[in-house]
Amino acid sequence: MEYRQFNKKNIKTSILGFGAMRLPVIDGDYSKIDEDEAMKMIRHAIDNGVNYVDTAYPYHNGNSETFIGKVLKDGYREKVYLATKLPVGRLKEKADMERIFNEQMKKLDVEYLDFYLLHAVSRNSWEICKNLDVLEFIDKLKKEGKIKYAGFSFHDSPEIFKKVADSYDWDMCQLQFNYADTKVQAGIESFRYAADKGMNIVIMEPLKGGTLANDLPDELAEHFKNAKIMKSPVEWAFRWVYNFPEVKLILSGMSTMEHVLDNLRIFKNTKPDSMDIEETAIMNKAIKIVEEKTAVPCTDCKYCLPCPHGVNIPMMFGLYNSYTGFKNKQEPRDRYKNWREREENRFTADLCVRCGVCLEKCPQHIEIPDRLEELDKILYPST
Ligand SMILES: NC(=O)c1ccc[n+]([C@@H]2O[C@H](COP(=O)([O-])OP(=O)(O)OC[C@H]3O[C@@H](n4cnc5c(N)ncnc54)[C@H](OP(=O)(O)O)[C@@H]3O)[C@@H](O)[C@H]2O)c1
Repeated sequence: MEYRQFNKKNIKTSILGFGAMRLPVIDGDYSKIDEDEAMKMIRHAIDNGVNYVDTAYPYHNGNSETFIGKVLKDGYREKVYLATKLPVGRLKEKADMERIFNEQMKKLDVEYLDFYLLHAVSRNSWEICKNLDVLEFIDKLKKEGKIKYAGFSFHDSPEIFKKVADSYDWDMCQLQFNYADTKVQAGIESFRYAADKGMNIVIMEPLKGGTLANDLPDELAEHFKNAKIMKSPVEWAFRWVYNFPEVKLILSGMSTMEHVLDNLRIFKNTKPDSMDIEETAIMNKAIKIVEEKTAVPCTDCKYCLPCPHGVNIPMMFGLYNSYTGFKNKQEPRDRYKNWREREENRFTADLCVRCGVCLEKCPQHIEIPDRLEELDKILYPST
């Protein structure tokens, strides 16, 4: 296992980390972790060099943290960096932070956290952070020795990413990053910005939540099958990410022992900056195939924003492109439904009133209101 040195910190993390968000469950019930199996999987990964475990307050409907507390008994706590996250989107008042943090520490049953992240920072949740002085709370936890390092995981545009990255002396940031998402959400622009600032970058969703393993469009699957260099689609996807020297750690949400074994194999002999010309060409072609399957030629330039009615237009098109480009139709639909049925802070396509302000601004000349209407019908078919 390769270990990468964090910039300006006395930390070396295994390039593969364990994400505790997609653990095996019983009877398909997301709350019921199959504890025997998941215990074996995580401890096997740690016994074979993984030294970082990532969980969060809502994972497995609140049961991931409690379970990770059990996994880290018997001397395993000392073998790993432990990360969990403050669910900033749920905070209503300042007192919530202390209450949730104490609950998390009780569930995890540990003396301190290595990494404490603001969870899923976005335009809206960043406003909550500012209003409730969340950064002061983070400083307090650091001073008290309850957390060692502070970071944030991120789900929004590069514009917001830059604001958040510049607002604090972060120890790390966690980004969604894979070869199919270079222009989706934070994308390569935020990755480059973080790298240029010398931030420590942790990657989540390296397989696009499993899509790059299981749901490749036929053309892409054929491309990998016919490539001169043989690797599984999973190995190609990880290879593309770990090739970036700025990546300190790649989190994988392994759901079966087969995933653990396969990923330990893939991550046995990794090196940054090691892709040769032929491999680079294979991956560039893969990226091109993904781009060609996109429904809307949105480049995420954000010239269309702000929408006077609050639609996050580039995010809508990013999700729609995931829907049209890959076989897994359920995940983007579920994600859209979740956003659309929120009671507050909504930004979905149905808010469009066809005012046309965006039409003049789009350099790609996309018929934005028409395409928003189309995607709303497709991603939210009950309407
Ligand atoms: N906002 C946030 O803070 C946030 C958001 C997302 C993720 N995360 C963290 O980042 C971690 C990583 O993200 P992720 O879980 O989305 O990672 P991912 O690696 O993109 O997706 C994990 C899925 O990929 C598939 N997979 C993994 N290894 C495989 C293998 N060797 N062969 C075939 N399929 C394989 C499995 O899908 P199937 O089970 O469908 O086969 C697995 O459930 C999460 O677990 C979580 O800890 C944080």
